[in-house]
Amino acid sequence: MSKQHRSIAIDGPSGAGKSTLAKRLAEKMGYLYVDTGAIYRTVGLYAFRAGVDPADPAAVIPLLKDIRIRLGYGADGLQHMYLNDEDVTGEIRRHEISACASGVSAIPEVRAFLLEQQQTLAKEHDVIMDGRDIGTVVLPDADVKIFLTADAEARARRRWLELKERGQETPFETVLRDVQERDERDTNRAAAPLRQAEDAVLADTTDKDLEQSLTLLTEIVKERLQA
Ligand code: DC
Repeated sequence: MSKQHRSIAIDGPSGAGKSTLAKRLAEKMGYLYVDTGAIYRTVGLYAFRAGVDPADPAAVIPLLKDIRIRLGYGADGLQHMYLNDEDVTGEIRRHEISACASGVSAIPEVRAFLLEQQQTLAKEHDVIMDGRDIGTVVLPDADVKIFLTADAEARARRRWLELKERGQETPFETVLRDVQERDERDTNRAAAPLRQAEDAVLADTTDKDLEQSLTLLTEIVKERLQA
């Protein structure tokens, strides 16, 4: 297969700053930013609304045939998620949908259902794609692979602030516990677990603010694209 487009894969645990940094980097480089977590969240939202256990394959798999997911990009450059033509961009960010997304994402049939859509986007555009298995499964031939991480406390603090800014007041301990549980599930699941690809560059943002992290990522990308 001839490769016409460039792709940058950014994987890592939740709250490491993947989406904010990937979005900024995409703007700088003129690439399309694809937030794959949002796609899993959309399936998680569907399962939540259907009132089923999102981690139960027997309950979730039959729902897939009724789910149509579309990504759209507004004039604001923002990635909008459409679930059967309804814009669910805001709704999928709700705190309770995070666990649902993590639940459905451990089901191999769900991952297979979403794989082609992600790969097609990378065939048609220069992309910066963030997720958990982009460098290992979705785009194993990505031009640049970055594994972005930070320690759990730092990530929980960022998530807590983000929720607060959205008006969702949640105790810090709850957010930290959720982050740790999600790490545990995403890392230890059998289907495409979260792990660093062998050829990925490790970027730790624990002690870095947004601008410092962006500088680090920009340097990694520049260096790798020239290599
Ligand atoms: O990045 P996020 O928090 O929006 O992701 C939501 C969930 O989706 C997360 O718990 C793991 C899952 N996910 C995944 O399994 N694979 C991806 N490529 C992206 C997200």
